[in-house]
Amino acid sequence: MSTLLLVVPSHWTGVWTGPLAEIGPQLNVRVHGRDEYDADDIDYVLTFRPPHGVLKSLSHLKVTFSLGAGVDGILADPEYPRQVPLVRFVDRTLSREMAQYCVMHVLIHYRMQRFFDRAQAERAWRQALLPKRAQDTRVGILGLGEIGTLTAERLRDLHFTVAGWSRNRRNVSGVESFAGENELSTFLARTDILICLLPLTPDTREILNADLFAQLPADAFVINVARGGHLVEPDLMAAIDSGHLSGAALDVFHTEPLPEGSPLWSHPKITVTPHIAAISEPRVAAQYVADGIARFERGEALENVVDPARGY
Ligand SMILES: NC(=O)c1ccc[n+]([C@@H]2O[C@H](COP(=O)([O-])OP(=O)(O)OC[C@H]3O[C@@H](n4cnc5c(N)ncnc54)[C@H](OP(=O)(O)O)[C@@H]3O)[C@@H](O)[C@H]2O)c1
Repeated sequence: MSTLLLVVPSHWTGVWTGPLAEIGPQLNVRVHGRDEYDADDIDYVLTFRPPHGVLKSLSHLKVTFSLGAGVDGILADPEYPRQVPLVRFVDRTLSREMAQYCVMHVLIHYRMQRFFDRAQAERAWRQALLPKRAQDTRVGILGLGEIGTLTAERLRDLHFTVAGWSRNRRNVSGVESFAGENELSTFLARTDILICLLPLTPDTREILNADLFAQLPADAFVINVARGGHLVEPDLMAAIDSGHLSGAALDVFHTEPLPEGSPLWSHPKITVTPHIAAISEPRVAAQYVADGIARFERGEALENVVDPARGY
């Protein structure tokens, strides 16, 4: 029988142990911090942000499964055993929910919904024309991977003019593709609404900074739904307060939960949500892990394996 170690904060344990138990008796599940276990007996790990050093101590670890799409919290452990395959969670429903979040905030901004909310609060009948047609509104997506591509397709189908930026050039019908550092400035200069869907790596950390904002056209709007580490929060507020950017929608933050004293909470041009754009469904993720283990034990290649050198 194989043994899987669940390494999550204690308040998450109950959410995950039920669905993992449903995998069946062929998988023995131990919980780090709750159960006694022999480090040499652990075959698999399911985790998101493990305490540093825990995974290194598992001498017979065969595969690490991330319970999220991003693996930055796992690779942040300097002692993470990089020879062990790391599988990230890729789920079409999760990607769809991420795309929904992005489409919603593009539409709230583009359709001036905040303006009409304020008018309603004042019982004022304020008819206003949309400043542009969708086809004249240029959306730019940083990261044209699983989620970025789906988001680009959804926005393209709503008639926005959509482009994406990635390391390698991508072929997505009706979406202009920019690739690499050399094309970032041109991509930014044509972007009215910027959506960050990059993985957090040493190359992308703090990419949303004053220099990048200065390269966006006046009145651009920013949506960060990837990781808080992508954004320099004071640079964003300065770019909005100077009038250069028109506002932002943020789902992820440098410190989570967002501290009560953060000025982001009350900024009139910033929408804050508590990292809820898409949350991995434990039943689906547990089945994904079971399928991955079965595949691995049949000697087949694992899917969605992360390249630790690239960081995603
Ligand atoms: N807020 C939430 O609730 C939530 C939920 C799920 C995921 N997320 C975040 O969303 C991120 C994206 O997920 P995904 O599944 O779409 O990832 P993915 O499929 O791995 O796609 C990553 C994209 O980013 C590009 N990229 C990576 N490094 C780059 C660099 N240095 N320069 C330019 N492009 C770069 C990749 O380029 P190539 O195509 O050339 O490889 C790829 O297009 C995750 O890492 C996670 O942090 C957030």
